[in-house]
Amino acid sequence: MTAGMHMETRADLLVYNIGQLCTMQGPDRPRRGAEMDDVGLLRHAAMAVAGGKIVAVGPEKDVQALADQDTRTVDAGGRVVTPGLWDPHTHLCYAGSREEEFAWRLAGRGYLEILASGGGILSTVRATRAASDEMLVSLLHKRFSQALASGTTGIEVKSGYGLSTVDELRMLRVIRRAAGEHPIRVVATFLGAHAVPPEFQGRANDYVQLVIDEMIPAVAGAHLAEFCDVFCEEGVFDLDQSRQILTHARAAGLGLKVHADEIAAMGGAELAAELGATSADHLIMVSPEGMAALARAGVVAVLLPGTSLTLGSRFAPARELIAAGVPVALATDGNPGTSPTESLQAVVPLAARTLGLSPEQVLTAATVNAAWAAGRGEVGGVLAAGRPADFVVWDAADYRYLSYHYGSNLAREVYIRGRLVAREGVMLIG
Ligand code: NIG
Ligand code: FE
Repeated sequence: MTAGMHMETRADLLVYNIGQLCTMQGPDRPRRGAEMDDVGLLRHAAMAVAGGKIVAVGPEKDVQALADQDTRTVDAGGRVVTPGLWDPHTHLCYAGSREEEFAWRLAGRGYLEILASGGGILSTVRATRAASDEMLVSLLHKRFSQALASGTTGIEVKSGYGLSTVDELRMLRVIRRAAGEHPIRVVATFLGAHAVPPEFQGRANDYVQLVIDEMIPAVAGAHLAEFCDVFCEEGVFDLDQSRQILTHARAAGLGLKVHADEIAAMGGAELAAELGATSADHLIMVSPEGMAALARAGVVAVLLPGTSLTLGSRFAPARELIAAGVPVALATDGNPGTSPTESLQAVVPLAARTLGLSPEQVLTAATVNAAWAAGRGEVGGVLAAGRPADFVVWDAADYRYLSYHYGSNLAREVYIRGRLVAREGVMLIG
């Protein structure tokens, strides 16, 4: 009998004829080192669900015993089933788009140069401030549907295109409203320190003070976000300003994330470790000391290869991070400037090619470690008895196909809490 199976529980949903079931079962924490090679593979398996929760996964004949004539059945057709993907780093609440700027960058202009001249993040800030709540909710809703239909069942979304107390709070309320109207699971992050807004040009410290004195208490007081993030970067917020903001956020009860060492080696990883952040993200330029600090502190490294590709920059040292004992996760960074996508599925084959990760490491990074990076490790990213039935039936017979094939949507069916929410690229409810 499979561990965790409760014979008294009748299944209301049975998924059978699963060619490969990647359960991702293992220790109840972010996976590191060789743990990232283990996808908890079961062949010829089935999964039983009752009341939206998994009651058993295991060999087909054992699990099938939980079904009766009223059980709804899904024939997986010998395909691959994995947990729903978790995207732990996005900036998908925005208006406008920046394809013109991307053309400038293709022609040789720098990302920080465009930001310094009032474009980049600041051009999205102008468009987002000018958009109505209804417009922002509907844009976000559409992006959630894109994510869901490509296999993402949970997603983190940051504010950061408001950059005033009013507009940052408005963005977080928009995120909450869109989340309430959509089946996808959402985690909100406050990123007031995404850029220095035009009103504070040359007075960055005054803006930092506003974030600390006004925004953090308002965000924490109204429970509008679970995390606080900072763009710790040369010419944006330095180490000291980032430390101040994050220390206040932590004292206000928020979890921490850091945009760390993306463009210049700033010691952002060391800062994330020092403050006990949940994740340090980007890490393209992370130092060996930074890697050691992340490993010691158990901070998840969230890598964003789509951003490197769009910026034409180097890729994060993923293999070195894993060798150093840092748990690695993947995310889209979905945003209009450096990663215009909603699909973490699209990042999977990219990560295999550009970060030098194995199919097993990539899958671990996009499921269980990604869920931990989003603060949902106890809920998502693993298929085991007692967990919510959030899973994807992929159009693939071998899980390694997900790292290999690219460019079309392989998510055949997407389920949240045992409910079919998307099929062949189309959202069904919400
Ligand atoms: O993660 N690094 C800062 N923020 C985003 C880019 C946002 C934008 O360009 O609009 C990022 O790359
Ligand atoms: Fe980002």
